[in-house]
Amino acid sequence: MIPVRAAIAGTGFIGGVHARSARLAGARLVGVAASSPEGAKAAAAALGAERPFDSAEQIVREPNIDVVHICTPNHLHLPLGEAALAAGKHVICEKPLALNAAGARRLVEAAADSGVQGAVPFAYRYYPTVREARERVSSDQIGALRLVHGSYLQDWLLSADDDNWRVDARLGGTSRAFADIGSHWCDLAEFVSGHRIRRLSARMLTAVPERFDADGRQAFASGGGRGTPRPVSTEDAAIVQFETDAGALGSVVVSQVSAGRKNRLWIEFDGADETLAFDQEQPEELWCGRRQAVTILRRDPAALSPAAARYAFLPGGHPQGYADCFDAFVADFYDGIRGGVPVDGIPTFSDGLRAALITEAVLTSSREERWIDVPVSPAPLVDSSAVGP
Ligand SMILES: NC(=O)c1ccc[n+]([C@@H]2O[C@H](COP(=O)([O-])OP(=O)(O)OC[C@H]3O[C@@H](n4cnc5c(N)ncnc54)[C@H](O)[C@@H]3O)[C@@H](O)[C@H]2O)c1
Repeated sequence: MIPVRAAIAGTGFIGGVHARSARLAGARLVGVAASSPEGAKAAAAALGAERPFDSAEQIVREPNIDVVHICTPNHLHLPLGEAALAAGKHVICEKPLALNAAGARRLVEAAADSGVQGAVPFAYRYYPTVREARERVSSDQIGALRLVHGSYLQDWLLSADDDNWRVDARLGGTSRAFADIGSHWCDLAEFVSGHRIRRLSARMLTAVPERFDADGRQAFASGGGRGTPRPVSTEDAAIVQFETDAGALGSVVVSQVSAGRKNRLWIEFDGADETLAFDQEQPEELWCGRRQAVTILRRDPAALSPAAARYAFLPGGHPQGYADCFDAFVADFYDGIRGGVPVDGIPTFSDGLRAALITEAVLTSSREERWIDVPVSPAPLVDSSAVGP
């Protein structure tokens, strides 16, 4: 089998995760680009890439690359994505796909026009316990779905001296906390339930109205901001309530300022007969509640449905985690671009657009203090970036 030739633009926190996944999926890691040629040189050595590139733009133009992973700050996703697609490369582009829904739609359309494939790493889909919840909801084991609720809480932007490019709307987008992590939560809510969020009402909070610059700080590194305080226009937290197209109600609290919470994505599906709850920080378990008894389903291939067992690489009692989700996502995507048998559940550019539409509705609702309709099926309904059914 000829290895996929991959390159990574942006070598911070998530770029390193992508590099590992690409190698594990059998790719040649042809090169990496960082914010400077010196940074790329160091990253190439650290991540085992064949060579550094002077810039991300050089990567997207380079002919001998099959797939580009865009792991830069958000404002570069659209220009790099469009350039890579125009050059006929497959693209894995980090979320949010663009700074707004119009940009995300442009990428969906560019992928469709170019005939290559695009994916967005909503990687939490790849926990076996998440797939198990999806199987149980879709096969009606929990009864009619009534409520979908939960939260996604972090604390790495708790204080005024915590800073990151995400805080700056020009680099991260108008929405910060919701676009950054609320998008993951909504993707899981829709992926597991099969429902679509069709209406929502949101409030946003900027709890830290001024922050001290800490230039070049990587994600999740807290503290150390210095200099003149600058005003913050992006939200630290959001609360959203919603209705789905199939009649369920839901709510989610999203925050990057919840002390002690590191990456606590919690989501619960309350059916007429049973409740299922998933906690990203305890991903080996699925909480299954019936009135008579509560069961903790542990991730053991022998106990899972085939759709979930497919992603249970290790025997029960040998924990899998976050990086394994990325590995599985990238492996499925690469199989697709090699022309392998289509698999279900790869998050495509259409899913990235979906997240952007929900984010836009959250911003509008919060600003105008009213319920907002979310387009249930963004056009185009099908794009060629979709891998599998
Ligand atoms: N899917 C997920 O679960 C997940 C998790 C974390 C981050 N992300 C997304 O990944 C992206 C990167 O986030 P991060 O947490 O790794 O941030 P980060 O700050 O750790 O890394 C960003 C990197 O991009 C580099 N960079 C800046 N300008 C560049 C340029 N012009 N060319 C090339 N590289 C450049 C920076 O030097 C830095 O190393 C964001 O879009 C974020 O939303 C997704």
